[in-house]
Amino acid sequence: MATVVVFGGTGFLGREIARQLIAAGHAVRVASRQPPVAREQAAAGISHVQADVRDEASVAEALRGVDAAVNAVSLYVESGGLDFETIHVAGAGRLARLAKAADLATLVHVSGIGVSTKSDSAYVRARALGERAVRDAFPEAVILRPSVLFGPGDAFLRTLRSLTLLPVIPLFGHGGMKLQPVHVEDVAVAAARVLDMPAMRGRVFELGGARAYSYRETLELVLEEQHRRRMLLPVPFAVWKLLAALASVLPNPPLTRDQVILMRQDNIPGEAVGTFADLGIEPRDLRSEIEAARRPGA
Ligand SMILES: NC(=O)c1ccc[n+]([C@@H]2O[C@H](COP(=O)([O-])OP(=O)(O)OC[C@H]3O[C@@H](n4cnc5c(N)ncnc54)[C@H](OP(=O)(O)O)[C@@H]3O)[C@@H](O)[C@H]2O)c1
Repeated sequence: MATVVVFGGTGFLGREIARQLIAAGHAVRVASRQPPVAREQAAAGISHVQADVRDEASVAEALRGVDAAVNAVSLYVESGGLDFETIHVAGAGRLARLAKAADLATLVHVSGIGVSTKSDSAYVRARALGERAVRDAFPEAVILRPSVLFGPGDAFLRTLRSLTLLPVIPLFGHGGMKLQPVHVEDVAVAAARVLDMPAMRGRVFELGGARAYSYRETLELVLEEQHRRRMLLPVPFAVWKLLAALASVLPNPPLTRDQVILMRQDNIPGEAVGTFADLGIEPRDLRSEIEAARRPGA
């Protein structure tokens, strides 16, 4: 049994990682800025430590006495003085450097599919530079790049469901961009499993669900689930870019420039990296999960 600290362990993915680590027999501490809202974590024997990846002393304290760490901290939209560089590059690098200084056996860093230092998106560039900072500081770190996550309470299907309330649903371009939605529990099992697989150290994994879908197909699936029929309207990316620029003046923009850029490229696992198969995990399929949840008694 190891003691593992999960930074971002109160978030959507981090909570599930903490649960899977407990199920695998580890002792778990979650680290985040705010105390956990969910009481289940305390009930499951998970402790909480207050830490901010921007703050050296709090990160060092959260790492004290643990064998391994997971970084599942997120920032999707820059606001309130928080920027991608601070969290995804400097914060991720700090955590990796302090984890190495504390002599941890393993670090699992959660990133995302499609990272690139050459992207037009500040978010995607920061994620790529963050991976590099982690690798430089902690060469054996395992990097997990999931596709978009679904599961109980996810933001992905919730957003698509709310779109189906519109009389006409606008598509990004023709909606042909491919994604491979992956169940949050499958990614969490992968994070827990790599900790117990020393042979996987230093590797990168791209984690997608059992099947890829176009954006149009995912909307059609959700329309079917909601028993709704709607017209899907192709909208050129230039229009989306303009809408994102207009929305950027709002305190909580419903659409950002980075999201529009991300919707232009496929979000599916590549070939030169590890996958679920290397970890002995058979990932779930979005359609089957949605259909199973609709069955009477589910
Ligand atoms: N959700 C997806 O579809 C998806 C897809 C691909 C990759 N990912 C990646 O998976 C990871 C987790 O994403 P998520 O969707 O689970 O995020 P989330 O639900 O937004 O949770 C974020 C977590 O990070 C913590 N956090 C934020 N800022 C922090 C800081 N400065 N210091 C310490 N903790 C901080 C939050 O707690 P506090 O606010 O209390 O600090 C929370 O526990 C991210 O790397 C994300 O890019 C997610």
